[in-house]
Amino acid sequence: MIKLENVCKSYFLGEEEVKAVDSVSLQIKEKEFIGIQGSSGSGKSTLMYLIGLLETPTSGKIILEGKDVSKLSDDDLSKIRNRKVGFVFQSFNLINRFTVFENVLLPTKYAKSGLDFDPVKSAEELLKRFGIYDRRNFFPNKISGGQQQRVSIARALIMKPKIILADEPTGNLDSKTGDEIINILEDLNKDLGVTVIIVTHESEIAKKTKRKIYIKDGRLAEKYL
Ligand SMILES: Nc1ncnc2c1ncn2[C@@H]1O[C@H](COP(=O)(O)OP(=O)(O)OP(=O)(O)O)[C@@H](O)[C@H]1O
Ligand SMILES: [Mg+2]
Repeated sequence: MIKLENVCKSYFLGEEEVKAVDSVSLQIKEKEFIGIQGSSGSGKSTLMYLIGLLETPTSGKIILEGKDVSKLSDDDLSKIRNRKVGFVFQSFNLINRFTVFENVLLPTKYAKSGLDFDPVKSAEELLKRFGIYDRRNFFPNKISGGQQQRVSIARALIMKPKIILADEPTGNLDSKTGDEIINILEDLNKDLGVTVIIVTHESEIAKKTKRKIYIKDGRLAEKYL
């Protein structure tokens, strides 16, 4: 589904080059459940942003469903992202001036062409599935962290993406709530066949994923279990 070929991403701080991701080649198939692990600063988030087309590579290719997307314009990339990728972040990234319901609907407002589903109905279904329908008219800062993360997962799912990328989704949650979030992500993979990629520091979480990718100084080491 997504292939990275010798992908590098460098940041330049003055003269100094920081190779956040260094010559990574990686193939991600449909319906995979993957954990990305590595120490702080190793390049996990950068790799995730490259896979999710939030960042473009400095060099190398990213092939999505057979098409080279590494050199597309921001506008084209955002259209593809809107349809194909859902993001879940450690800090939830909900918009506080919008209600829970409006946050979940947001990606459907950005969709440039017609939707083949009823957004309101889909949002209601997702909120019910995640047990937060009764919070639909609340603002994000009036609900718990676990509830906010469920809202952000609903928002990530509303466009029916094939892939969900979660960057330390339990980092701001207590361990019980974190487990619930991981179980939700696991079920999305099992029941809906969504490809799920979780960036995590925690080996307990990584244990649940089917494929583990380790990154160190921007380079990959992989182990299948
Ligand atoms: N926008 C940026 N500008 C400059 N350097 C950056 C930028 N983003 C990341 N980096 C650098 O790239 C390297 C990899 O960063 P990245 O955020 O991918 O690490 P990470 O593994 O996600 O770390 P953490 O576990 O702390 O979230 C780091 O050295 C970081 O300082
Ligand atoms: Mg990170």
